[in-house]
Amino acid sequence: MSVTWALPFKEKIIPEVGKERAVDPEEYRRIHAESLKDIESFWANVAKELEWFKPWDKVLVADPQPPFYKWFVGGRLNASYLTLDRNVKGGRKNKVAIIWEGEPVDQSGNPLEVRKLTYYDLWREVNRLAYVLKNKFGLKKGDTIGIYMPMIPELPIAMLAAARLGVIFTVVFSGFTAQALADRLNDAEAKLLITADGGYRRGRVIRLKDVVDKALEQSPTVKNVIVYRRVGLNDVNMVRGRDYWWHEVMADVPPNVYVEPEPVESEHPLYILYTSGTTGKPKGIVHDTGGYMVLLHATMKWVFDAREDDIHFCTADIGWVTGHSYIVFGPLLEGMTTIMFEGALDYPNPDRWWAIAERYGATILYTTPTGIRTLMRFGDEWVKKHDLSTIRLMHSVGEPINPEAWRWLWKLVGRERVPFGSTWWMTETGGILISHVPGLALVPLKPGTNGPPLPGVDADVVDDNGNPVPPGTRGYLVIKKPWPGMLLTIWKDPDRYVKTYWSKFPGMFYAGDYAVKDEDGYFWILGRADEVIKVAGHRLGTYELESALIQHPAVAEAAVVGVPDPVKGEVPVAYVVLRQGYQPSEELKRELNNTVRELVGPIATLANVFFVTKLPKTRSGKIMRRLVKAVVTGQPLGDVTTLEDEASVEEVKRAYEEFKAEIEKLKGQQ
Ligand code: WT7
Repeated sequence: MSVTWALPFKEKIIPEVGKERAVDPEEYRRIHAESLKDIESFWANVAKELEWFKPWDKVLVADPQPPFYKWFVGGRLNASYLTLDRNVKGGRKNKVAIIWEGEPVDQSGNPLEVRKLTYYDLWREVNRLAYVLKNKFGLKKGDTIGIYMPMIPELPIAMLAAARLGVIFTVVFSGFTAQALADRLNDAEAKLLITADGGYRRGRVIRLKDVVDKALEQSPTVKNVIVYRRVGLNDVNMVRGRDYWWHEVMADVPPNVYVEPEPVESEHPLYILYTSGTTGKPKGIVHDTGGYMVLLHATMKWVFDAREDDIHFCTADIGWVTGHSYIVFGPLLEGMTTIMFEGALDYPNPDRWWAIAERYGATILYTTPTGIRTLMRFGDEWVKKHDLSTIRLMHSVGEPINPEAWRWLWKLVGRERVPFGSTWWMTETGGILISHVPGLALVPLKPGTNGPPLPGVDADVVDDNGNPVPPGTRGYLVIKKPWPGMLLTIWKDPDRYVKTYWSKFPGMFYAGDYAVKDEDGYFWILGRADEVIKVAGHRLGTYELESALIQHPAVAEAAVVGVPDPVKGEVPVAYVVLRQGYQPSEELKRELNNTVRELVGPIATLANVFFVTKLPKTRSGKIMRRLVKAVVTGQPLGDVTTLEDEASVEEVKRAYEEFKAEIEKLKGQQ
């Protein structure tokens, strides 16, 4: 069924800053088409700008067959060398690599802890930790480790130390629960875990090591734990022979110890990062080293227009791919100064990001629509208090950006003059694929668009049969040719890799997003076409939440859907069928929510729980989440021929109507 889409914005803006690179969309299309003629030589030219220990023999190889691709085959390199040694040797030895600000503040709101690590500082610490991992814990190329840390410099230090040895790391977001941590450590078969005693969040201490202890009860592959003392908790449980304090194992390591960076094959995995899918356990997305470095180099130049004096402020958490690519590896690869902030955006006040940007003179801001919408609600004054005139370029990421949020940031932070785009990519793509490229050519901005695909990236919008749709028609986003930085596979599950991404449309990478292309060739990503929801930009499979719910003894069946939310973009609501003997109650709602929060994490908090006696199902017994979603979002039901029992839809409707009536009543009382 083809849906024509009325795009919300008509304006085209050439921003004052960077207008010397202005080109019209037609001209950009020519540049782009040219790049696609021979993607191998195109990407090889980018790759030449990096330093390889051994040059590649072949740019792109399908091995053993498509869709398993290897980039720069025969080439050898090291990500820790490229981000550190190369900069230390290349004149940036005492340039600041990382500016870190801890969350705690004094009474006037000034940060109590700021650390600035030069490239040389970072190089030394990474070498020392690599020495410890290699010589004290016997880790070697191809081993896997877990990293579960707050946003402190030791987190990138751990990533880079692993990379130095060719040890594959998996970072687990520090907001995840013991169960989520254990699942990931088990799947990755991590031999060692690097963590901290705790971290700060909105003024509270989060006791990370307690979570680790609980996780490790179920993670037998983890033999050792290195614990960094971040908070200084004095009642941390240390298991003898298993757990070691970071400062103790590092104490006798000489400050200038040098560990040879392992020259890994281009396709050697740099890291695994778990992300939600539509079914089953999270997928371990595997990224290579060579292709990933090449895509980061290209996107840092084209999308962020990286320059020597830039202060790069990406507000993400390193627990997600955005932080991996655009706080750690991308900016350091370019020898830039990257800002790392430990805490929450509204602590102690909703101007924390602006205070940070002003304090260090940030030039680039990379942030999220949810972050912008959250801060908008506190009013303009919090922004206006700060001098943000150093900012010369902005982008957002993670979910579609709405007109209000775009205009707010464009006006208040961008002073209506700096390039500001919405970069599309995914954990799987490794780096940005669809975006304005102000560092290369500046096509007119259209608020809310993702812009055209990057050179070398063959993106398209297709219908159910995989045929391109005309401009203005909604379809599925696909990438038609491999690109450097793409996932190698799903860890230990190559079949799932093929099935998830390459089977819906054979020969094309299926992203799972709805999109529209406009007459200028710009892409507008509209949201997920599958059962993945995006809560505050974080990716959750409705399946994960349902699995958590049915672990509660009261729950017989559950269906979770995403509903629109003015700040978080989407939030999950659950429809639950109770087992015999259980009665609906507010108390039970709270309990169910706690179960989800405990098993999946606080980001999965349900906005509401509705009790029903049946759920809409197909005749084969599959829950028709699509219908539930249509009810709660007020959309037409569409095709219901496979529905087994129409009364189930009526029940879902009734539960939702009652809820709406309740809200109206509450509004009336106010
Ligand atoms: C999904 C991937 C890539 C870093 C953060 C998210 C959505 C991402 C945009 C954007 C509209 C976007 C898509 C995509 N998405 N960026 N600029 N405009 N939607 O990574 O958690 O792997 O999620 O995020 O739905 O498929 P992720």
